[in-house]
Amino acid sequence: MSPAVLTGSLRKEFKLGWGRGRVLAVEGLDLEVKRGEVFGLLGPNGSGKSTAMKMILGLLRPTAGQAEVCGFRAGTLAARKQIGFLPENPYFPAFLSGAELVSYYGKLCGMGGKRLEARVQELLALVRLGGEAGQRPLRTYSKGMLQRAGLAGALVSDPEIVMLDEPTAGVDPAGSREIRDLIRELKQRGKTVIFSSHLLEQVEDVADRVIILHRGQKLREGRLEDLLTQTTEWQVRARGLREDRRKELHAWLVQQGAEIMQEGFPRERLEDFFLRSLPEKERR
Ligand SMILES: Nc1ncnc2c1ncn2[C@@H]1O[C@H](COP(=O)(O)OP(=O)(O)OP(=O)(O)O)[C@@H](O)[C@H]1O
Ligand SMILES: [Mg+2]
Repeated sequence: MSPAVLTGSLRKEFKLGWGRGRVLAVEGLDLEVKRGEVFGLLGPNGSGKSTAMKMILGLLRPTAGQAEVCGFRAGTLAARKQIGFLPENPYFPAFLSGAELVSYYGKLCGMGGKRLEARVQELLALVRLGGEAGQRPLRTYSKGMLQRAGLAGALVSDPEIVMLDEPTAGVDPAGSREIRDLIRELKQRGKTVIFSSHLLEQVEDVADRVIILHRGQKLREGRLEDLLTQTTEWQVRARGLREDRRKELHAWLVQQGAEIMQEGFPRERLEDFFLRSLPEKERR
């Protein structure tokens, strides 16, 4: 089976006009995203993440190189049908309600009737905008709600590939955790998820594989498991060890020739502490 996304020597140069030169946004990018994978695009601001995504979608024409989506040339109707997209700074008509927005996306994908109505309700529930929230105009939505409405829109046609450009930007910790859980759920349903994010802890929680871009070029690529596991060190986390025993353990390790890099009480992640501090029903 062809990969979800395949690019070869993909390049994008923007001409700035009026003799102001050019910007090389993406340079010689070779990428292969397998089906069913959660793939993270990382990199500093301006490193070419959004530009690469737009070329895969066919919204931008590459200066050179090629991109394929499920075996179809990027930009063709067959390729576009495979992808649901949440852009980086989505612009939504503020007078539409969440339900109307999702329905509008569905109509753009050629859906309609009872099937679309049912799908809209299902998706609003999935992104926690069911009931009253889904009927309110978007101008009354918070940033997190808008992002979730956009996500529901991206999922309306049940695409094989979901591409999310910074889905958690500006979303609070509980909201970003929900988006992370949603990405996991999509993976469980066999979907491919390609997303960019600056929140590295969250990428770590959810991505199978990542690439790191820098000035349009690939710096690193690999499975998180392989990139992050430090096989030259060993770590134990234990409960119920008396203080004198700890000292003995320390002494024993030193005697064995181990260099002790870190020892002590573990620290909770701020995200977990923050969520634990909120009233229970708001943690989700
Ligand atoms: N339409 C455009 N015209 C000119 N230059 C552009 C255009 N779009 C992007 N660029 C430039 O291309 C480079 C890559 O931009 P891109 O938006 O892909 O980066 P990014 O990795 O998505 O950054 P961020 O993390 O800020 O979203 C930047 O130098 C940017 O200024
Ligand atoms: Mg971007």
